[in-house]
Amino acid sequence: MKTSTINQKNFQQTEAWRLLEESIIYYQGKPIGTVAAHDPELEALNYDQCFLRDFIPSALVFLMEGKSEIVRNFLVETLKLQSHEKQMDCFQPGSGLMPASFKVESNGSEEYLIADFGEQAIARVPPIDSCLWWILLLRAYEKATGDLELARQPQFQAGIKLILDLCLVHRFAMYPTMLVPDGAFMIDRRMGVYEHPLEIQVLFYAAMRASRELLLPDGDGGRYIDKVNGRLGALHYHICNYYWVDLKRLREIYRYKGNEFGKEVANKFNIYSESIPNWVIEWLPESSGYLAGNLGPGRMDFRFFALGNLMAILTSLASEKESQSIMNLFVHRWQDLIGYMPVKICYPAIEGLEWRIVTGCDPKNIPWSYHNGGNWPVLLWLFTAAAVKTGRVELAQEAIAIAESRLTQDKFPEYYDGNNGRLIGKEARINQTWSVAGLLAAKQFLANPHFLELVTFAESFEGFGCSL
Ligand code: GLC
Repeated sequence: MKTSTINQKNFQQTEAWRLLEESIIYYQGKPIGTVAAHDPELEALNYDQCFLRDFIPSALVFLMEGKSEIVRNFLVETLKLQSHEKQMDCFQPGSGLMPASFKVESNGSEEYLIADFGEQAIARVPPIDSCLWWILLLRAYEKATGDLELARQPQFQAGIKLILDLCLVHRFAMYPTMLVPDGAFMIDRRMGVYEHPLEIQVLFYAAMRASRELLLPDGDGGRYIDKVNGRLGALHYHICNYYWVDLKRLREIYRYKGNEFGKEVANKFNIYSESIPNWVIEWLPESSGYLAGNLGPGRMDFRFFALGNLMAILTSLASEKESQSIMNLFVHRWQDLIGYMPVKICYPAIEGLEWRIVTGCDPKNIPWSYHNGGNWPVLLWLFTAAAVKTGRVELAQEAIAIAESRLTQDKFPEYYDGNNGRLIGKEARINQTWSVAGLLAAKQFLANPHFLELVTFAESFEGFGCSL
C-alpha cells in the first residue's frame, strides 16, 4: 500500500473515532450513550437524543475496543427507563416497552433522563425493536466482558421477563410471528411494513435465543424458558418455510390455487399469483434466494429488506445453504443492493400510486430515498458480519472499500439516495453517529472475526432449513 493511501486511511479512522467520541452523552459524569447525529446545520429535532437502536453499532465498537463501561451504563440506565405503566392520552401502552430514545435534562445542578416511548415521535410510532435490541446488547456485553453478574441481577432478570411478557402475550393471532403496526422499527414511518415484517420477526427470534441464554432457571425463570423454547421452534418453522423465496418457491406460488380450505393445503395464506410483482420474476437469479419482507392473509411482500435478511444469517435463522443464497443475491444484484454505498435498506422502491397510498404521500420517503429504497451506511456492519460468517470475506472487503471511499469526505451522512445510492440523501443529516459506528464496527469484524460471537448464534438444534 502506498504511504499516501495509508495516511488517508489513518486519517479516516481517526476522524471516525473523533466523531464517535464527540457523540457520547454523559449523565451524572458517566458516559451512557451516543446522540443520533451532530449536524451543525440542521435543526436537531430529536437527533440530539440517544436512540436505543442507533446505539447498537456504537456499543459494539466500544465493546470490541474494551470500552465496556459506557455499554454497562447504557444497559443499567435504560432498564430503569423501561415502562411499567405508561399513560398516554388516556391510554396505557404495555409495560415492558423500552423507549425509542432518551436524553439528559437538568434542573439546576440536578440531572435526570427523559425518555420517548413513541408518544412524542413523529406519527406516534411504538419502538418495538428497542426492547429486542436491548436484550441482544445485554448478551453481547456478557460475551465481550465475561461479566455474567449484570444480567443475573434480579432487576435485569425481571426486565427480560417483562419484555417477554409483552412479546409473548396471546393476541388474536394464528401465526407465531408478532403482529406489529407500521413503522415500529428502523423504518419508523408508514412504508407498508405493518403486520408481520421480517425485521421484527428476526429480531424477536434473536432476542428469544438471547433470553434463553440469559435467564436463570430458578423461580419462574424455568417457565419463561419453556415458553421461549416453544415459540422459538414455531417461529423458526414459520419463517423458514413460508417467508423463503427462491425460483422454486416462486414457480410454486405462480401456480397456486386460491381459496383452499382445510388443514393440509398448499396455499395456506391465500396468496394469488397476480400479486407477484413483475420485477421479482425478472430480478431473482437462479442461485439466489431471500426471506420476503412480510407475510399475512392474502399478502406476501416480495420486497427485499436488508436488515432482516442479514440478521437472519447472523442468528442462523437462515441455514448455511440459505445464508449462501442470500449472499449470492448480493453478488448477482450488487449494483441494486450495494451500488455506490452499502447497503440498500429495501429493494425496490415503491412508486406512483402505490407510494401515495402506502406512505400517505410522505415526501421524505419518495422513491429511492430514505426508507423507500435509500442506501444506509449503518447497515455495513451487518453486511460485513454476515459476509464474514458465511466465508465471503471478499464481499466484506469490497463493501468496506466502497464505503471508505465516500464516507469521510461526505461527512458520514445518514443515508444516500438514488437507484444505486449515488447521491447524499435529500434530507440526510451529516455526522450521523450510526454511519460512523457502522463503518468502525464493520472494520473490526473484518479484522477480528472472533468478535462475531457478540452478534451471532449457532445453527439451532431444531435444525429446520428454509428451503425444505
Ligand atoms: C430516523 C430513522 C430511525 C433512527 C432515527 C435516529 O427516524 O428512521 O431508524 O433511529 O432517525 O437516527
